[in-house]
This record gives sequence, C-alpha cells and structure tokens, in this order.
Amino acid sequence: MTDQVMIFDTTLRDGEQALAASLTVNEKLQIALALEKLGVDIMEVGFPVSSPGDFESVRTIASHIKDSRVCALSRALPGDIDAAGQALNIAEAFRIHTFISTSDVHVQSKLRRSFDDVLEMGVKAVKHARRYTDDVEFSCEDAGRTPIDNLCRMVEAAIKAGATTVNIPDTVGYTLPSEFGGIIQQLFNRVPNIDQAIISVHCHDDLGMSVANSLTAVAFGARQIECTINGIGERAGNTSLEEVVMALKTRSELLKAHTRINTQEIYRTSQLVSRLCNMPVQSNKAIVGANAFSHSSGIHQDGMLKNQNTYEIMTPDSIGLPQNILNLTSRSGRHVIKHRMSELGYSEDDYNLNELYESFLELADRKGQVFDYDLEALLFFNNQRQ
Ligand code: KIV
Ligand code: ZN
Repeated sequence: MTDQVMIFDTTLRDGEQALAASLTVNEKLQIALALEKLGVDIMEVGFPVSSPGDFESVRTIASHIKDSRVCALSRALPGDIDAAGQALNIAEAFRIHTFISTSDVHVQSKLRRSFDDVLEMGVKAVKHARRYTDDVEFSCEDAGRTPIDNLCRMVEAAIKAGATTVNIPDTVGYTLPSEFGGIIQQLFNRVPNIDQAIISVHCHDDLGMSVANSLTAVAFGARQIECTINGIGERAGNTSLEEVVMALKTRSELLKAHTRINTQEIYRTSQLVSRLCNMPVQSNKAIVGANAFSHSSGIHQDGMLKNQNTYEIMTPDSIGLPQNILNLTSRSGRHVIKHRMSELGYSEDDYNLNELYESFLELADRKGQVFDYDLEALLFFNNQRQ
C-alpha cells in the first residue's frame, strides 16, 4: 500500500453549502485556483443538479483547473449524475462523486426504503457514473452509524460496480477515534475486493473529533482524506485541511504517510477563504489562527530566543508565514525588549535598557499588549527627559 494520502478538498461543496451567502462564480474560481496552487489532489466544487448557478460554476472551474482533479457531487439518481457529468466533461481530469445513505435512521426515515433497495440504487448509480468517467467515487452517507454488516455489503457492491474510491463519511461527527478506526479496520478485514479501490474518509466535527478520526483512519489503511480549508462545512464543520496536512507532515514518522500538499500555500489560502466566505478564523485555531505562532509568556519567549524548538513544533515558514511573533506583554523579560529593539534597528547605545524596561512594564500593565510603535514612543519620551 502506498504511503501517499490523497487530499480531497470540499471547501467549495460541503464548505460552501454551509455559508450564509453563496459565493459568486468568480469568488469560487479564485478559491479553486488557490487550491490548485496548494496542490490538492482532488477538489469537489459543487452539486450541479442543485441549481443552474451551481452547474455554471462547476463548469467554469472545470475549464480552468489543470493540476488537480475536479469533482462534483450527485445523489444516486440518474439526473444528478448526468448533470455532474455534463458540468465536468470540459475538465482535463474529473471525478463523479455519487452517494446514498446507509444508516438505519437515514434508510428508514429519510429514504423510506429497504436497505436492499438502497444497495441496488447505489450500484446502479456507480454504473451510470462510469458511463462518463472511469474515476467514480461512491459515499455511504452516515457510514459512522451504519451497521457494519450493511456497510461491508455496500462497499463490496460499490467496488464491484466500478467505484474506484469508496468514501466512509462520519456525516454527523458521532464516532470516537477508536471506533472510527475500528470501522476502517473491519472493512479492510472483511470486504474481499477492498484493495481494488481507495478508501476515503469524510469526517464532520460535531464532537471535535474530525481530525483525530481522519488520522486514525489513515493508520488503518484509508488513503484519502476529505477536508476543507479552515474546517468550514455543515454545522460544526468538516475536517480541517491545514490540520490533517500539518499533522501528517510534522508526525510523518509515526503516521507513516504523507501528502503532496505545498504547505507554504496554507496560510495564504486560509486567509483567502476566510475573507471571501466572510468567516473569521478564531485566533487560537491550530495552524492558521493569529496566535498559532505567537508567544506571550516571558518564559516561552526566553526559550524561543534561545532555540525555536523549545516551543514550536513546526516553523511559521512551513505554512507560508514570514515569522513567529513574540507578543510584548507584562510577562515579557528585558532580553525580549532588547531583541525587539535590535529588530527595530536600535543599538544599546540608543537607549537605557533599565529605564526603557521600567516604562514598558508600566505601559504593559495598563494596556496589555505593547506594540512596536509604543516602544518607539517610550524611547522618544525617555530620551526627551534626559
Ligand atoms: O457528510 C457527508 O456524508 C457528505 C456526503 C455527501 C459525502 O457530505
Ligand atoms: Zn459532509
């Protein structure tokens, strides 16, 4: 089994469907181009049957993207699959993604059918999609809550019908990592033709487990992770692309897998998606939050000035941020002030460190964070007094 994990980005489908206001075609194209530069293997960019606007944006994106495979979603219905095929057929490389629910609650309450009917619809959908492309993904919606015997039957039948990727979504973010890993392990143990398809996972974050569940699935053999930039998506969102990718990069020796993402594009892409989707990134968000590479405590700042490994497990540069930040607060020590003054171009002859530090502490106690322009003002007033 290869150790490359395919990154399937669904920012423009699962992510976009959860926004208060839809993106314009141009905004979607801007994001798609950024995702291509980021190096995602597959980008899912819409649900063409849902509206003429969605069809149009899928087609526009499909005509511009060259270095990633473009994908569109369809229910397990011929009309949906035809719309996806027609929107995508202009692309250099494309995938049709078709899905149907497999959990008891979805099968009985939402679809109001028997499981055998659902299985037949799934098989027919895969065969129908294969008329357009030999790259067909099939998803068992709500797989996380599907009885394992039914899930094994569905996966086996979908692969037999021609699915080249089979996706196991934890649609409602219900499972725990050990449980979700167990589902993937059972599939590998019980489905006889499992090695004829890539097993994918698509986890939602309702209990905050989506990244842990995705990485656990990789440990049990999944080789595609579906995710979104900044983790945007239905309800609590989807697996965050930046978190799984940086976990795979930072802990690759333990996880024994890697992606081909150009991680230096992560920060730029996160900012673009946040701005266009009008969804601010929380400041303590892993990897891309404003505080992810900033250090506030004096003890941490002292360690950082001696060796960045003391408090950073990855470099800001690895995600495309020029540098980390040492926040100047009342917890900062003299040496940090000296360091910042030298970064600002001042030598020790230009100021009295003890005096400057004393006035800095006074200001920091009043104000909280002290900025470079505050330091320069303190320097100016201290020099005036002499
Ligand atoms: O969460 C989910 O199950 C989905 C499917 C359509 C893959 O988004
Ligand atoms: Zn989803």
